[in-house]
Amino acid sequence: QLILDELSTNGLISDSRSLILPGSSAPAASNDAQIAVLGALNSLDSRAMIHYETHEEFSHVLTPEGSQIARHGSHEARVWAALPAPGQGSPVTPAELQKAVGDEAAKVGQGRAFKNGWIAKDGKGLVKAKSEIDDVTQAQLREIESSGTLVEGEAVLSDLRKRKLAVQKKLQWFTVRKGPSFSTSIAKLETDLTVEMLTSGSWKTANFKSYNFDAEGLPTDGGALHPLMKVREEVVSIFLEMGFAEMPTSSFVDSGFWCFDVLFVPQQHPARDLQDTFYLSDPKISKPPPAEYYKRVATVHEHGAYGSMGYRAPWSDEESRKLLLRTHMTGISARMLYKLAARVKGAEAGFRPTKMFSIDRVFRNETLDATHLAEFHQVEGVVADRGLTLADLIGFMRVFFRKMGIENLRFKPAYNPYTEPSLEVFAFHPLLNKWVEIGNSGMFRPELVKPTGVPDDVHVLGWGISLERPTMIKYGINNIRTLVGHKVPIDNVEKTAAVRF
Ligand code: PHE
Repeated sequence: QLILDELSTNGLISDSRSLILPGSSAPAASNDAQIAVLGALNSLDSRAMIHYETHEEFSHVLTPEGSQIARHGSHEARVWAALPAPGQGSPVTPAELQKAVGDEAAKVGQGRAFKNGWIAKDGKGLVKAKSEIDDVTQAQLREIESSGTLVEGEAVLSDLRKRKLAVQKKLQWFTVRKGPSFSTSIAKLETDLTVEMLTSGSWKTANFKSYNFDAEGLPTDGGALHPLMKVREEVVSIFLEMGFAEMPTSSFVDSGFWCFDVLFVPQQHPARDLQDTFYLSDPKISKPPPAEYYKRVATVHEHGAYGSMGYRAPWSDEESRKLLLRTHMTGISARMLYKLAARVKGAEAGFRPTKMFSIDRVFRNETLDATHLAEFHQVEGVVADRGLTLADLIGFMRVFFRKMGIENLRFKPAYNPYTEPSLEVFAFHPLLNKWVEIGNSGMFRPELVKPTGVPDDVHVLGWGISLERPTMIKYGINNIRTLVGHKVPIDNVEKTAAVRF
């Protein structure tokens, strides 16, 4: 308002340092005052109410020591003041002088006072040599304090700078003129076009605030990918570059048929117990599976087929139809083989080799501890082709894990109802300095493959790998609950580095 009033009476503010700011009695000569002026100028300029030009000037300000001298006098003047005139009292000893004016002033001041001819020795003490002195330094500093410079000019200023009594400072000041939208009152600018403005028509005359494209804005609270999801992205891209297609895994609920029966897991297998698997209470029972396929699967269990003697145990339709939270996704691999075989028949196009993977959540009725969760992510994969052997499975593992930066693998014979042979995969972990299990795999048994309908000479291999374990290893996390779940600190998620395999 001050700037606008000033412009309206004088038409121009040639030097903003002449303004007397509200709450102050002196002109706004200081840097701080000019910064405040600049804020107001920018705001008025953005409304085109004024124009301003910036000028720069170097001015001097006092150091704390300089201000001290401006107030109380130079060291030499204080020394002089502490001494008696000759014959008018006993001379002051150096020790007494030190006490009177302080160490610093006594030390520095004595030399200068002697040089100036202000003081003299009298026996063992000091007395005044002049009845009057002119404290030039104090006067100079007072001048700098009020005007920012010295009439005497640079030679003296540079001496004061060397004595660390004053420093140079850049000062901005401004020349201000009226702008095209000049007015003495600051209209409130609209920042939003509102429904009310549109309906009343007030938008036609409203003054809108212009966009400030120079504003840097506030840092946004951006989201961050969870470490587990970063590892997942890495794994997905490894599969894609190896020519794998992703399987549809969006359904967490499956039936005993697809989760166990098609995999030739006996209906009495302990994995199907309530202690290991979450069953649904409502609805309890799945829709009937494809009839032909169901019959083939039930037969291979109950009586055997394709050279297998089966389990020769009674078959339970109820067990097969139970709905559950999938404990793994191997059943989805089987379903994909079944679909593949069905499509082949329909199109009569013949079998085509396939490589598929999925990364998604599975559920197990586990006791939760530092390394176990009831739901976790599995990396599931399946490869079907003619003439595949165990060497292809081992070869895949070596290539896949090398891409993840894991070179040192070991394979251990294992047992799965649906694979023969079965291999557990171990990797050497240099930080933990031990072998850790990172996957389970095998060649799918004929009891699984044959009922799907894929051609007789097609061999299928598959695996399941935990996603959490390599993630924990990568990030050096030893408690799974700091990786997944409600106890994970959000800023940990935001701060974790991107993984690099
Ligand atoms: N389903 C197995 C598991 O959950 C992994 C696996 C998949 C093993 C395919 C062999 C073949 O551990």
